[in-house]
Amino acid sequence: MTETQADISAEIAAISAEYAASGATETSVRLDYPPYRSSILRHPTKAPYQLDPEELELWAPVFGHQDVDPLEADLTIQHRGEPIGERMTVAGRITDGDGRPVRHQLVEIWQANAGGRYIHQRDQHPAPLDPNFTGMGRCLTDADGRYRFTTIKPGPYPWRNHLNAWRPAHIHFSVFGTEFTQRLVTQMYFPSDPLFALDPIYQAIPDQAARDRLVATYDHDETAAEFSMGYRWDIVLTGSRRTPLEGDAE
Ligand SMILES: [Fe+2]
Repeated sequence: MTETQADISAEIAAISAEYAASGATETSVRLDYPPYRSSILRHPTKAPYQLDPEELELWAPVFGHQDVDPLEADLTIQHRGEPIGERMTVAGRITDGDGRPVRHQLVEIWQANAGGRYIHQRDQHPAPLDPNFTGMGRCLTDADGRYRFTTIKPGPYPWRNHLNAWRPAHIHFSVFGTEFTQRLVTQMYFPSDPLFALDPIYQAIPDQAARDRLVATYDHDETAAEFSMGYRWDIVLTGSRRTPLEGDAE
């Protein structure tokens, strides 16, 4: 039997009620969250294997600051024509829990196009590919920890967690730290998305305030006249206002 959104929503509601009754505050992503059916495949089931971090670094990719071209932060200029969709700036600041800037960090993003389609062989759902949009960009934070991308707003897309499952529109973010082993990955969402309540990935963070920290804010100061919308999204790496990250547990 194929499960429906009602089945998944009932599971989400049951976990949410159990969480509310527990009185606990749980701000991390639950790595094993049954309504997200494949989550069992997406987290370790065995204790981590200890590696010498310095030895690992010898095998990890390296890049220098000169390798990141400032134009790579503009996802709308990677092809001959303009991508279709709502053009926007996404900007913010990466800080530690005390508000200190995380400087010169490699920030990478990847996202679906305006129709909700990724350029990926696993994504074959019948939304159009955009020949003018690849959906990947990167930049370095400045001395104040700020990043800025120009892109188009991604569309929601279907996935096969259950019958008629749709992901809220989102942009994937990776922040590298100073070593490859410090890489952090998370997703940014858009305000007031009606799919939040239905999405078992967003709901895998039990605490509403923590979930809210993954949602960007519309920021009129980040818009450009006659050109683009603007969203602001800050990433906090430590402390009580920490941005929830994939793959970490409290
Ligand atoms: Fe995605």
